[in-house]
Amino acid sequence: MTKIAVYPGTFDPVTFGHMHIIKRAARLFDKVIMAVAADNYKKTIFTVEERLHLIRECCLDGLPNVELDVFNGLLVDYLHKKGAVAIIRGLRAVSDFEYEMQMASINRHLDQRVETIFLMTDAEYSFISSSIIKNVAELGGDIEQFVPGIVVEALRKKYKVGEGRE
Ligand code: COA
Repeated sequence: MTKIAVYPGTFDPVTFGHMHIIKRAARLFDKVIMAVAADNYKKTIFTVEERLHLIRECCLDGLPNVELDVFNGLLVDYLHKKGAVAIIRGLRAVSDFEYEMQMASINRHLDQRVETIFLMTDAEYSFISSSIIKNVAELGGDIEQFVPGIVVEALRKKYKVGEGRE
């Protein structure tokens, strides 16, 4: 039986941290679907299409068992629709634990068949989050060590870095 996992997130934008998790998840499952949340509570700076484009450009190379998709509504319903058995989440620090535990528990209550698998993020990515990178980018800081070049460029464009904002 093909074991399918879903790696869900907002990915606004994708970072080296996410890329590392997806690579490792791809080694554990027959197929991993990187699923971009289209309508969650977060206010995003990139549209769904932009987030998909950035992921497509930097996450899928050399990972033939990773697919990219968008989902709406409940994550467990999406898993069911895709025949997936697990949710992949990256755990960066103790501070992630409470929220992740809550999410894993609610998902399990909603659907007993679903397991959440946590992958510990490597120390070098443990302090990265999409919000913090957006914040640094907006203020013109160097983000090249945290996100791939195409994301650096996309953020610079969004925030008009180097164009002399008024
Ligand atoms: N490296 C770098 N950053 C990481 C990371 C890693 N390995 N793992 C997590 N993060 C960061 C993300 O960049 C993000 O940062 P941000 O908050 O600054 O944007 C943060 O950690 C976690 O966000 P993300 O991974 O995008 O997940 P999320 O919490 O935004 O997404 C969903 C949550 C979409 C999975 C969740 O809301 C969901 O399932 N929604 C569907 C509705 C549903 O089913 N609800 C009930 C269950 S919760």
